[in-house]
Amino acid sequence: MAQLEKMLSFARENYIPVMLDETRNLLQRLAEENKPKRILEIGTAIGYSGIIMLTSSPEAHLNTIEIDEKNAETARANFIEAGVYDRVNIFVGDAREIVTQLTGRYDFIFLDGPKGQYDSFLPYLTDVLEVGGLLVCDNVLYKGLVEHVPEHRHKHITIARNLNKFLNDLNRDKRFSTRLYRIGDGVTVSRRTGE
Ligand SMILES: C[S@@+](CC[C@H](N)C(=O)[O-])C[C@H]1O[C@@H](n2cnc3c(N)ncnc32)[C@H](O)[C@@H]1O
Repeated sequence: MAQLEKMLSFARENYIPVMLDETRNLLQRLAEENKPKRILEIGTAIGYSGIIMLTSSPEAHLNTIEIDEKNAETARANFIEAGVYDRVNIFVGDAREIVTQLTGRYDFIFLDGPKGQYDSFLPYLTDVLEVGGLLVCDNVLYKGLVEHVPEHRHKHITIARNLNKFLNDLNRDKRFSTRLYRIGDGVTVSRRTGE
């Protein structure tokens, strides 16, 4: 889609992080195969991943959370251009607050927001994910730092430690069956298998 190429150029020029190609292919395949109906996304950015998920699952509705108002406005324009805006709600605000107030149920969650918060989000996201649903988390290896957490004085040490704890918690959680994909910046795909 020409629009997606245009969005990638815009993201590069404006230093806005969007998912890498391998991650995009995985997300697209997961959405096509699982045909979710209710998707929750943390970290809209300019709507690139949202458009991928919605065009890959034509019956899906997306609730997506973004803290940056400018990003959210750009995403809104992109959703309109892609013809999917009637299936989107953008929540502009801090996911740290919004996830604590989530209601409703989702069958697909894409976590791609603040990397240092994944672990604190996990209980809230688990609560709203249906049994059988998927939790997909991007950047879980965080530049290779998560499996080799620097000892001290590294600018990303807190994020690396938090993500390391997140991965351990997710792997130990018996309600999930988790697979780690060593693609892009590391992606986990967890199916909720139990209450
Ligand atoms: C990696 S980008 C998302 C990329 C997008 N999912 C994609 O692949 O097209 C992360 C986004 O999370 C947003 N973000 C960071 N902290 C946040 C927070 N506390 N609450 C909500 N959004 C946040 C950032 O502004 C940024 O747009």
